[in-house]
Amino acid sequence: MRIGVLTGGGDCPGLNAVIRAIVRRGSPQDDFVGFRHGWRGVIQAETLPLDVESARGLIHRGGTILGTSRTNPFKSADGPHRVVATMAAMGVDALITIGGDDTLGAAERLGREHGVPIVGVPKTIDNDISATDVTFGFNTAVQVATDAIDRLHTTAESHDRVMVVEVMGRHAGWIATYAGLAGGADVILIPEDPFDVEAVCEHLRRRHQRTNFSIVVVAEGALPVAGSVAVTSSAVDEFGHERLGGISTYLQGEIEARTGWETRVTNLGHILRGGTPSAYDRVLATRFGVEAVDAADAGDFGTMVALRGTDIVRVPIAEAVAENRTVDRRLFEVAEVFFG
Ligand code: F6P
Repeated sequence: MRIGVLTGGGDCPGLNAVIRAIVRRGSPQDDFVGFRHGWRGVIQAETLPLDVESARGLIHRGGTILGTSRTNPFKSADGPHRVVATMAAMGVDALITIGGDDTLGAAERLGREHGVPIVGVPKTIDNDISATDVTFGFNTAVQVATDAIDRLHTTAESHDRVMVVEVMGRHAGWIATYAGLAGGADVILIPEDPFDVEAVCEHLRRRHQRTNFSIVVVAEGALPVAGSVAVTSSAVDEFGHERLGGISTYLQGEIEARTGWETRVTNLGHILRGGTPSAYDRVLATRFGVEAVDAADAGDFGTMVALRGTDIVRVPIAEAVAENRTVDRRLFEVAEVFFG
């Protein structure tokens, strides 16, 4: 079977480990072709040879050797037809698409509306894909954010400051919740729980009765109640997502004005997407890649590999992309124990 592989959406540590596992799992009857830059590579027939040799030494490398993009095949009238035509012209029997909700959503639609045989692999640092307990990239992002929060503790303590740390996660607060818990944050703000900035300051005032510094971790998609501030730019990508970022600057101004304490901002941004994957993500990515080839070889299309507990399973892609997976209420209640 000739299997095409693409990586779409935001990059993250572990993508190359999936690619390596796919190529190494392939049976003697399988050969592989890499499509460059996500869906754009299939639409434009832009490829990269994929074999054991080209996949050698990838497991620890961040990013994706295939490149990625946020190209939406349904953004142009002939996009889906060009996907089908490229696969026919190149003799590609199936696709393994590694991506987040946008890439997988396009995969699901191409399978349902155009009969394209696809197996999905869930990828994102945001950890917001349903039907899998976790996505690869998330564990590494949490560790990078936690290491940064640990470092910010020492400078906050040295200067009696409030440090506001902004992390990615789009419209889910998984990275903020996990890294805030692990890093001992004094307040954690997430999109799932719009915040009252005065209540945030109350937490800090209570804490400053015991010490003179605080750490506030805020997810980029978090907003105050009543939407009194906009933190998105006018730029939207081909899937309609606005570019987030900047809530930490709003918080800095409000905290300084309301408490009088020196407040500084660190936006971790794309640092959370770069660099080598954690051991956990290397193993999860490898397990996903092996299962994806097994699913393709078995003709089990329209499915996505997923983690369920400690097992790798296959679920309908439609189930995975139906809705955003947001932070579990009970988990956030545990985080709230340590506010202030
Ligand atoms: O989806 C992953 C992610 O890192 C989000 O957390 C973030 O909002 C977005 O990608 C940033 O997208 P880009 O790298 O295209 O600016």
